[in-house]
Amino acid sequence: MVSEDIKKRYFKLIDEITEHDINYYVKNNPIISDYEYDCLLKELKEIEEKYPELVVPFSPTQRVGIRPVSTIPTREHEIRMLSLENTYSKEEVSAFIDRIEKKVGNNYSLVLEPKIDGVAVSLTYDNGYLSYGLTRGDGYVGEEVTHNIKTIKTLPLKIKDERHIVVRGEVYLRFEDFRKINEYRIENDLTPFANPRNAAAGTLKLLDPRLAAERHLDVFIYALDAGRKFDNHYDDMDYLRELGFKVNKNIKKADNKDQIFDYLDEIYKLKKTIDYAIDGVVVKVSEYNLRSILGETARFPRWAFAYKYPAEQASTKLVDVRFQVGRTGIITPVAILEPVHLSGSKVSKATLHNVDEIRRLGVKIGDYVFVEKAGEIIPKITKVITKRRKGDERDIVLPKRCPVCNAITIKEEDEPFIRCVNPECPARLKASILHFASRDAMDIKGLGESLVDKLIKESYIKSIADIYDLKKEDLIGLERMGEKSSENIIKAIERSKSKPFHKVLYALGIRHIGQRYAIILANHFKNIDNIINASKEDFEKIEEIGEIIASLLYKTFREERVIKMIGRLRSKGLKFSIDEKTSKKLEGKTFLITGSLSKPRKEFEELIEQNGGEVLLNVSKKLDYLIVGKKPGSKLDRAKKMGINIINEEQFNELLNKNA
Ligand code: IVH
Repeated sequence: MVSEDIKKRYFKLIDEITEHDINYYVKNNPIISDYEYDCLLKELKEIEEKYPELVVPFSPTQRVGIRPVSTIPTREHEIRMLSLENTYSKEEVSAFIDRIEKKVGNNYSLVLEPKIDGVAVSLTYDNGYLSYGLTRGDGYVGEEVTHNIKTIKTLPLKIKDERHIVVRGEVYLRFEDFRKINEYRIENDLTPFANPRNAAAGTLKLLDPRLAAERHLDVFIYALDAGRKFDNHYDDMDYLRELGFKVNKNIKKADNKDQIFDYLDEIYKLKKTIDYAIDGVVVKVSEYNLRSILGETARFPRWAFAYKYPAEQASTKLVDVRFQVGRTGIITPVAILEPVHLSGSKVSKATLHNVDEIRRLGVKIGDYVFVEKAGEIIPKITKVITKRRKGDERDIVLPKRCPVCNAITIKEEDEPFIRCVNPECPARLKASILHFASRDAMDIKGLGESLVDKLIKESYIKSIADIYDLKKEDLIGLERMGEKSSENIIKAIERSKSKPFHKVLYALGIRHIGQRYAIILANHFKNIDNIINASKEDFEKIEEIGEIIASLLYKTFREERVIKMIGRLRSKGLKFSIDEKTSKKLEGKTFLITGSLSKPRKEFEELIEQNGGEVLLNVSKKLDYLIVGKKPGSKLDRAKKMGINIINEEQFNELLNKNA
């Protein structure tokens, strides 16, 4: 039996931690130190471990680490989820307001809000805690994605209002997190998401909330649909803010057209500076009684509408498609375009991703197409302008043979790619060498594209390990290579031998071993022999590695080609085990750098990682040390407020040398 005192303490702790989470995540204004917060959380965890029967779903410990679900059930919306009518012109905005005034007169107020480009969700709270969360679905029935919604740190699981409450909002991803998700997907041969919205939708539908937690979803709440406190939307939004919900701070009141037009300009400017996608502005009548009078059509309310900014797109002609061979043999179609200006830069190429994408678009050579920048990164083709077809457009023919080595290409049933099967294909070799020498791998400066081309052409390099047989004289003999630059490259090659094991592992360019898995594998197995001798089960035992990847890794480390490559690199003196002595000095400690230091930031970050420390992306409760250089940024203020250890370069060096 759990005593009343413990029960009381348990719920008190939940309340306190919830409050601190809101201060930290929603209000950006923590009022206790990192250490104090951790103590509260630790106490809560101890109680839960001792009395598991006590654990409630709204405990802060239940955000992550909850079990995967086996399916995503559907559930009916208590209140239908409507969508909004879109307008694209100021005339339409004006007509909309005229219609409202005709029906309810002049005595109304409007609320203007940024339209967040994400995924709509409806969240139900009962007895003061989040009971379930649904996607919009068809407006009547949505998908229950509570397990993933709970991972959103800015969303309170518990609120100080015990009534039945339904709030609605938009789940979204920041561009930065979207980029990271896609980087990971590309590195692991998965099709990248087209934009942050698709990535957010995909994340909400994951079965395993631990994967969702890694992607950092966020949510803006934009409606209170049940459990209203006031007679108007604007005051209810303030109330939701008070309860700890994240409500966009750019929401404004207005009561005439000019204020709307000013707001459209204002948000357009804001849109260019913020790190999440805004695709327009939503205009809503605030008073609920007026909303009832205005009513709704079959699909849209008559009391609100969305003004959408035109997507930054351009039209141009697709003149050719080239096929690029990557280091794992994947052949990527690249569209060659007639150059066109788009969002301030000249675009002459766009990725077509893979075979499925070509089919989906139905694109042909000679077509006029629209290009857009998805999440402001790589330009992509969004649509074929079929009306401009003349009849002389040609189908895109997928190469039956590798465009570089002429080997047969294959397409596996379950993959949208075609691959070159020749492991010795010069294009694959070139891509492998460039990857091996890249900054995040062995960092061999000077070993760039044109030099690698020449080295392969002149047969100096037939495999990665040949890099370490290169001599200064070999390089000097090549076109446009001077004595000094040749010497520098040889030095850089020599220096690369001291790169730590995880960098070497990443540099090998093995499918599925990206930077993150390289660190995980290096730390887990300690040396290459343990990896080569590991069984499938040994790989599966690693928490972060799933069954499929485990069996692929197992297979790869049995391939003769791979074993040979490792053997040769080993004989050249590369590190194939973790350096226990230097790897632990900063173990368990987290760092972040602000301002400029005496050497490039990347070098410090490497030093931290080599010594077992971790580099964080933002100031957070997890941060142990902020290293401050010249002209520090806002991180310094934030770290000060949170009572985080602030050190300079000298103090960091002392820390490194202290335990030596
Ligand atoms: S109000 C009945 N407010 O836009 C009114 N929607 O095209 C429901 N959206 O389905 C929507 N930001 O997913 C509203 N501040 C905002 C919004 C917003 C984004 C999304 C939402 C909705 C879609 C309508």
